[in-house]
Amino acid sequence: MEAKPSIVVTGATSGIGRALAREWARRGHALGLTGRRLEVLEEVRAEIAADPAAKGADGKPVRVEVAALDVRDSEAVHRVLGDLAQRLGDVGIVVANAGIGNERRCGDGRFDKDEDIIRTNVIGAMATVDAAVELFRRAGRGQVVGISSVAAFRGLPGSAAYSASKAAISTYLEAVRAEVEPAGLAVTTISPGYIDTPINQSMKSRPFLITPEEGARQIADLVERKVRHSTVPVLPWGAVGTFMRILPDPIWYRAMSSGPAKRAAERD
Ligand SMILES: NC(=O)c1ccc[n+]([C@@H]2O[C@H](COP(=O)([O-])OP(=O)(O)OC[C@H]3O[C@@H](n4cnc5c(N)ncnc54)[C@H](OP(=O)(O)O)[C@@H]3O)[C@@H](O)[C@H]2O)c1
Repeated sequence: MEAKPSIVVTGATSGIGRALAREWARRGHALGLTGRRLEVLEEVRAEIAADPAAKGADGKPVRVEVAALDVRDSEAVHRVLGDLAQRLGDVGIVVANAGIGNERRCGDGRFDKDEDIIRTNVIGAMATVDAAVELFRRAGRGQVVGISSVAAFRGLPGSAAYSASKAAISTYLEAVRAEVEPAGLAVTTISPGYIDTPINQSMKSRPFLITPEEGARQIADLVERKVRHSTVPVLPWGAVGTFMRILPDPIWYRAMSSGPAKRAAERD
C-alpha cells in the first residue's frame, strides 16, 4: 500500500481540528498537530496512540508530532510548519483550521474582540497558507486546505467580524489557488455550516447541525478528492449558500431583522 501524505493541522486541540486528526489517523496519515495548548495536543496524541484503527500503510501506529503554536504570530507559523515538515520528513497537506468566533454588536465597546478575530481567522490563516505554499513550492507538490464558513457568503448581523474574516480568507484562498495551480499545487476551501463544537454551542439557532465526527469524515473525503471548494455538508448548505448570495437586498434584510439581528439586539 502507498504511504499517505503527512498532514499538518492548526487548531487540533478541539472541535473540527481534533476530529480531523482522529479521522486522518484512521485513514493512515502521519500528523503534525498544533494549537496553543500543548497539554491538550499531548492528550490528542495519546487518544490516537490508543486507537487500534490508527495504523499507517506499514501496519504500525501512525506517527503524530505536536507543537504549540499561536497562529497570530506569523513568524512562529512559518518556523513551526518548517520544523514539523522536518520532523515528519515531508508534509503533503496543510490545514488552516484554527479560528475563533464571537457574537457582538458593532459599537458595543468591545472592538478588541473584532481585532482578535481578524488576527486569528485572517492573519493567522493567511500566514498558515503562506508558510504551506512556501514548503510546497520547494517540493513541487502539496495541498493547502482552508476552513472558511458559510458565514462568508453574506454579512451576518451579530457576527460582522466573523463573517468578514471568513469572506477574507475565502477570497485569499481563491487568489492563491489561481497562483499555484499551474505549479501543480492544490487549494481546497471548506465552508462548514454548523458543526457541534464549542465555537457555536451557546448559539440559539444552529440549522442542519452535524457532529464533529461526521463533519471530519466529509471534510476528509472532500480533501482526498482535492475539490476546489465545498460546503460541509455539501447539501443543503451548497444550495442554501447559493440562495444566500443571490437573495435580493430587501428580502435579505427583512429575513435578518426578524432573526439574527433581533437576537443580537436582545443580547444587549
Ligand atoms: N463549528 C462550526 O460550526 C464551524 C462552522 C464554520 C466554520 N468553522 C471554522 O472551523 C474552524 C475550527 O473551529 P471549531 O468549530 O472546531 O472551534 P473550536 O472547537 O473552538 O476549535 C478552535 C480551535 O482553534 C484553535 N485556536 C484558536 N485560536 C488560536 C490561535 N490564536 N492560535 C492557534 N490555534 C488557535 C483552538 O486551539 P487552542 O485554544 O488550543 O489554541 C482550537 O483547537 C474555525 O476556523 C471555525 O471558524 C466552524
